[in-house]
Amino acid sequence: MGKDVIIACDFASKEETLAFLDKFTGRKPFVKIGMELFYAEGPDIVRELKARGHRIFLDLKLHDIPTTVKKAMAVLSRLDVDMTNLHAAGTSRMMQDALEGLTRPDGSRPLLIAVTQLTSTDSESLKNDILIEKPMEQVVMHYAKTASESGLDGVVCSPLEVKAVKEKCGKTFLTVTPGIRFADGDKGDQKRVTTPALAKELGSDYIVVGRPITKAADPVAAYNECIKQFVD
Ligand code: C5P
Repeated sequence: MGKDVIIACDFASKEETLAFLDKFTGRKPFVKIGMELFYAEGPDIVRELKARGHRIFLDLKLHDIPTTVKKAMAVLSRLDVDMTNLHAAGTSRMMQDALEGLTRPDGSRPLLIAVTQLTSTDSESLKNDILIEKPMEQVVMHYAKTASESGLDGVVCSPLEVKAVKEKCGKTFLTVTPGIRFADGDKGDQKRVTTPALAKELGSDYIVVGRPITKAADPVAAYNECIKQFVD
């Protein structure tokens, strides 16, 4: 898989999701299914979108004891998703066990990506709520390194962190980057944003784009613009 645009299908129902995706008659978008849609519709939504030819990033951010995550990953691997994720904070043992669980009997497996620190966590909450005294950047880079050493394929991060992650973990370690906005777009709740073109320039492997496409007057045109800026 090369550079691609992943549309965050943050919808609450199958009907809404299919009505949205039916607009795309050309290139089949790579889509992200998060907790909202998965908890609403269950594994059938994954099967349905897969059968329609979409590649799927299942964004469930697993974090539990290693055995539980390993068994959950074994179930997810049967859904034939292309990419899934977990929290690096679950420890390297949890990440290694997750990889084992995710690996199918024939040796194949979906890409496994780690969340380092959520972008909703700021330096203050890191210190006051999670009692981590180290600076945010050091924590993110340490988690990325631990994920890489545990055999994972990459991390979710900001395009602005791609260079540092690649320097620390190697060029082939994937960076999956949300926080994408068009130059004239509404930022919403995202704070540090970049355009698809800048994300490409910064070396991101996959951009995750939600509202700039899902809430656009013409979602297909917005998606095509992302492809033009980031892939072509
Ligand atoms: O609508 P927007 O483009 O902001 O959507 C970004 C998507 O990426 C959402 O599904 C959000 O949950 C996800 N995400 C994020 N920041 C992270 C991890 C995931 O924005 N650190």
